[in-house]
Amino acid sequence: MTLVMENGWPRTAAWTGGELRIGGIGVRELAAEFGTPAYVLDEEEFQGRCAEWREALPDGEVHYGGKAFLCPEAVRWLEAAGLCLDVCTGGELAVALAGGMDPARVVFHGNNKSVAELRRAVTWGVGCVVVDSFTEIERLAALADETGVRQRVMIRVTPGVEAHTHEFIATGGDDSKFGFSLSAGLAAEAVRRVLAATSLELTGLHSHIGSQITDLGGFTLAARRMADFLLACELEHGVTIPKLDLGGGLGIVYRPGDPVPPRPAEVVAALREAVPARVRLAVEPGRSIAGPTAVALYEVGTVKEIPGVNTYVSVDGGMSDNPRPAMYGAAYTALLASRSSDAPLRKVTVVGKHCESGDVLVRDLPLPADVRPGDLLAIPASGAYQRSMASNYNHVTRPPVVAVRDGAARAIVRRETEEDLLRLYLC
Ligand code: LLP
Repeated sequence: MTLVMENGWPRTAAWTGGELRIGGIGVRELAAEFGTPAYVLDEEEFQGRCAEWREALPDGEVHYGGKAFLCPEAVRWLEAAGLCLDVCTGGELAVALAGGMDPARVVFHGNNKSVAELRRAVTWGVGCVVVDSFTEIERLAALADETGVRQRVMIRVTPGVEAHTHEFIATGGDDSKFGFSLSAGLAAEAVRRVLAATSLELTGLHSHIGSQITDLGGFTLAARRMADFLLACELEHGVTIPKLDLGGGLGIVYRPGDPVPPRPAEVVAALREAVPARVRLAVEPGRSIAGPTAVALYEVGTVKEIPGVNTYVSVDGGMSDNPRPAMYGAAYTALLASRSSDAPLRKVTVVGKHCESGDVLVRDLPLPADVRPGDLLAIPASGAYQRSMASNYNHVTRPPVVAVRDGAARAIVRRETEEDLLRLYLC
């Protein structure tokens, strides 16, 4: 039996021999070799999703949003697939370069890049810096001047579009820490200042309205507003602005029954329709590439039944490897992955091992009533914003990322050890 990809499972996930297999390997073998918790990443799924975006926009640019998940091996997959990379910190930039990404294919974002980060971007030859504030325009122009570089930039614009998503991940409204507001006239002023800076070259305008968006309406509205603004700037200044980067944001399915988002080709078609044909399009998908590629694998430790109230199934990870339920109220599903069971289903709450009641991974999950210590649970759609947001809360070590393909598995990010943690303490 193949699990349905639309429900968040990677394409090679299948149920055979009484267990879940990913990339041709059973979860029992994966757990025995790499331990739990672990993120099991389907390499083919990652590369397939890169290719799908690349093919959807053959005459434009696809910048993978590195904040979703990044490691040097993933950078190699991106390069091989012809994608560029969006980073938003010096740390992400360092990983990009460690993976061999050509700095010219890196776009550097962030609302508060430090002077040191900007200097690195200029001297290392980062392809494009997305300027986010007047202070930054000044700093970057001075640094580029000093270095004798004409730095390519885009201007981040907040187009006043409220994406239908959680408020913490909506970024396109006027009241935002990101970018220059269109309606308040700040974006127009930013264009004037960048054009006046001889050490800066304006290559495009950028907007990103939010994340985990499953309908096209917000994307289309933002694209129209940005296209109108681009034309207005060109008219006012008698220049050509070659590119519109419309950000990331396409959502994924986390659980059966979640709205099924449009495919990349449909998103691109909608954007293309809103933007004049001569304008080069760029997009920055993160979650829609990395999200469905990985399954988080946990071992059940305790099962606590409170008669008539609830059953808590505790696993060996939790909010340190997946803070999304606690932060955004994100809803997941999980599967008893290591054996089949004929026991009747009953609703449980899957919780982690952290010292907080809010350390919940899945609520109201129907699981076989005989779930017991030593069972493995698999949570799909765990490839984005989980390893990259993982913490060491309670001095828990962060899980490895195990890449699987054609029956072979290898850790591409190793498990953190307590020695790693202790190394930080100087006295
Ligand atoms: N471009 C920019 C400028 C961004 O800020 C982001 C995400 C992306 C691209 C990629 O967006 P995506 O395609 O992944 O939606 N931690 C939150 C998501 C934060 C998104 C931040 N920016 C979560 O776990 O839902």
